[in-house]
Amino acid sequence: MNERRILVTGAAGQIGSELVPALRARYGADRVVASDVRLPASSIGDGPFEHVDCTHIREIDYAVRRWDVGTVFHLAALLSAVAEERPRVAWEVNMGGLYRVLEVARSHGCAVFLPSSIGAFGPSTPAESAPQDTLQRPTTMYGITKVASELLCDYYHDRFGIDTRGLRLPGLVSHVAPPGGGTTDWAVDIFHRAVRGERYVCFLRDDTRLPMMYMPDAIRAFMELMEAPAEALVHRNAFNIAAMSFTPAELHAEIRRHRSGFEMTCEVDPVRQAIADSWPESIDDSAARAEWGWRPEFDLPAMTADMLEKLSASAPGA
Ligand SMILES: NC(=O)c1ccc[n+]([C@@H]2O[C@H](COP(=O)([O-])OP(=O)(O)OC[C@H]3O[C@@H](n4cnc5c(N)ncnc54)[C@H](O)[C@@H]3O)[C@@H](O)[C@H]2O)c1
Repeated sequence: MNERRILVTGAAGQIGSELVPALRARYGADRVVASDVRLPASSIGDGPFEHVDCTHIREIDYAVRRWDVGTVFHLAALLSAVAEERPRVAWEVNMGGLYRVLEVARSHGCAVFLPSSIGAFGPSTPAESAPQDTLQRPTTMYGITKVASELLCDYYHDRFGIDTRGLRLPGLVSHVAPPGGGTTDWAVDIFHRAVRGERYVCFLRDDTRLPMMYMPDAIRAFMELMEAPAEALVHRNAFNIAAMSFTPAELHAEIRRHRSGFEMTCEVDPVRQAIADSWPESIDDSAARAEWGWRPEFDLPAMTADMLEKLSASAPGA
């Protein structure tokens, strides 16, 4: 990455809460500027913070000039379930925010990282091993903004030479910050219930299979992609990356290997079930593997053991 500072938008969210400390550990605390419309938890550590609302171009421009930013990790967005509740705001934040970030990047010569999602696929995408280059006709506002974002990043690279890069992330599981209103939040919530010794009521059918990833793998992927030599990248934006796929029933069974009394039932939320049913069950990440050497480290048993260990250690009375 270039030697100028790094700006992270949406830094108080689930990903930012782990990306900011990881970037600060790697590049130095004063080289990484966290930003959001709300204050992040103190666990993101010491280092600069700016209030940046990505729907206001002046706030992005000010932060980039003030801190001499050379790379933006643009995380600010509304997630899938929230976007279905508030589609107009989702369009404003997800598309309007990215457009303004790209315009500022064009003015100041910044590189831009954008996390896309498996939500950028749709019911007509092959459900198994969804290819890197395939039909993308999503049926959700979230998915529509993600496809358009992938295309906009390609456009700013091809037309203006901006170094845009990105990943299509599966659902992320993390023990640090709560998820922000996505369709795969159940795979985080279930661990909290298990550690508290409570029953879990899942909002998806127990046979709903979705691609998932443990947060440490995702954070490593962000940094590896941004550090990859540009000439090796054919796709640049929206690389599929995969680690594992599982259903609520399978994760429940895996947790029961550690907590034999743990119980789960399902009360299906039709809105989130419809979103999940429109997404593929697994994705083909061979382009990421070939172009920049992507390899996941955590599978379902390794992630489950680590989540339970970390959450148990931080539980009250532990
Ligand atoms: N977490 C996942 O499982 C997952 C999976 C696929 C893709 N992604 C993508 O990764 C990115 C970050 O996701 P996350 O899980 O950290 O989301 P999150 O909801 O936890 O965090 C998003 C952050 O953006 C901030 N924000 C909202 N509107 C803003 C605005 N106008 N200006 C500045 N900040 C604003 C929020 O305050 C919040 O802190 C999103 O683009 C999301 O679509 C996440």
